[in-house]
This record gives sequence, structure tokens and C-alpha cells, in this order.
Amino acid sequence: MCLGRQVPLLVDVDTGIDDALALALATRSPETRILGVTTVAGNVPVELATDNTLRVLSWCGAADIPVFRGASRPLAAGFQDAAHVHGANGLGGAELPGPTRNVEELSAPQAIIQLAEAYAGELVVVALGPLTNIAIALNLQPELTTKVSSLVVMGGAFDVPGNVTSAAEFNIYADPHAAAHVLAAPWSSIVAVGLDVTHQTALSRASWARIAEDAQGTEGLTRRILARTFTERGMSGLYLHDPLALAVALDPSLISTEPCHVRVTFDGAERGQTRAENGGAVDVARRVRAAEFVQRVAQRLGLPPVELSGALRSAE
Ligand code: BDR
Ligand code: CA
Repeated sequence: MCLGRQVPLLVDVDTGIDDALALALATRSPETRILGVTTVAGNVPVELATDNTLRVLSWCGAADIPVFRGASRPLAAGFQDAAHVHGANGLGGAELPGPTRNVEELSAPQAIIQLAEAYAGELVVVALGPLTNIAIALNLQPELTTKVSSLVVMGGAFDVPGNVTSAAEFNIYADPHAAAHVLAAPWSSIVAVGLDVTHQTALSRASWARIAEDAQGTEGLTRRILARTFTERGMSGLYLHDPLALAVALDPSLISTEPCHVRVTFDGAERGQTRAENGGAVDVARRVRAAEFVQRVAQRLGLPPVELSGALRSAE
């Protein structure tokens, strides 16, 4: 069922377990039409992120969505992956069948520029990895800020500890120069969905365990890519970082925000730290309707009803 006009969407990913869940969620969200997915080095090298993205979209029956490969390394910082969290293959070791579509020839920054031009004033961009592709596109075409209707960034740890270091969240830490450039640009609308809110949203191991082992579709994807997290690694939950940012792009009422100016630290022990000062142009997420969001994810991915109560002992 489609209610009203569908939001034209571009998703930038470093797939990645929670990126995969966000992509699955996007394919099951009737409010949107996904025009393209761009990939970037982050959780895993960009070749692997691209292959994972193609496999996930094929698995979800969405192989018609074009995928554009992007930056293989941060603008200035060295590349550090997050394979310890996402597994060596980025999908928690899950072996999804090979993709039924090839990557496009156009690069990710060029695709961002072209889609923003073609859908000027309408395109919503959701950035779920390091901001390298967005920064390059912005450098090539500064008018991007006026063409994109809204940019939603999963990134930052404003009033909470980081997840790579005590100071920094992964996506900002991975490419702090790109983050500073993107967060300072004069977008029509820019929203930062950081750990302050994503750490209030998790899928629990108990909820995951209720999924049948032979489940298919987005339910089966969830079962497969989270198995390592909940068994080998013994976590009690998986934070829904990227799915939350995706959901916010389609329904901003899930969060409440404060307009801030965001400063990013480039190096030293506080590399990647995000400090928010009141009064700027970045809408920093402060609160989230977590229960409603988690239930929506479960319903759209076809999961059994989720458990919402109880603090998670260990989640990632
Ligand atoms: C972010 O870092 C990555 O590991 C996740 O995919 C998410 O985008 C959370 O800090
Ligand atoms: Ca990600």
C-alpha cells in the first residue's frame, strides 16, 4: 500500500550488519522509492561493502535498485574498518547468494550529484557510513546543498560516550574531515542521528531467537546476519543505528531535535568527537520514540513481535 507521494531516496552505506537491516527496511517502506544506493569504505573496504549491498538488495527482491561504488578511503585520515563488530565479510559471516545485478559504472559522488539534480528539491539522502562520498560530491558540486531536500546523517555522540573511543562515534571517527565539511555546509535541512538516540533502540537477542532458522525474505536476512552477534559474540542486543536514521528520513516525527552548530575534532585522543553548540543549522537528535520505532522495524521486516522491556546488558 502506498499512501500519498513516495519520497525519492538515496542511501549511502558501508554495509555492514545494521546498514543491511536499514536497506531491508527501506525496501519494505511504502513511503519511499529508493533511486540508488552508494557505497563507501567504512565497516569494511568499499569493494566488500559494494558486494554486500548488491547481495542484500538481491536477497530482498530489490535488484532493480542501482548501486554505485564510492570512496575507498577517507579524505585525509587512514582507513580503519570495523570488522571486529561486523565480521570479516561485513555481514556477520552470513553467506548470502551472489547478486543478480552488477555495480554501475558511474561513481558514487557523481550519482549523488546527478540524482540531486534530477530530483532537485525532493531528494532525501541518508548517509549511513563515513561521510566521504557526500563530502566529495559537495566539493565537486557545492550547489548540492540547495538541491537535496534533506540530508539525514547517522553519526555523532553528542552528550553520550562514543563507540570507537570514549570520545567518538564510528562514522565520524572514520572520516572526521569529511564529517566537518558536510556538517558545516548550508543544507536546506540536515539531521544528525547520533548515539544519543540510537543507543536507545535495539533488537534484543530474545526477539531475534524467535525468528525461525529457515526464515526467508527480510526476516531470514535478519536471522542470518545477526547469528554471530548473538551466539559467538554473546551480545544481548544489536543497536539499530542505521535503521533509525533511515526511518527518521521517512518519518522525522520519530525524534525530537535541537538546532546546533557541530564541531568535529580531527586528531589526537579526541579524534571524531562531535561537540554541539546551540543555534546552528544541524538538527541534532535528542530524543526518540524508541518503542514505536522498534515495533515498526519488526513489523516491516516481518519479525515476530519484539520484546521492548529491560535494559540491554551488552549491545553493539
Ligand atoms: C555506525 O558505525 C557503523 O559500524 C554502523 O554501521 C553505523 O553506521 C554506528 O556507530
Ligand atoms: Ca553504517
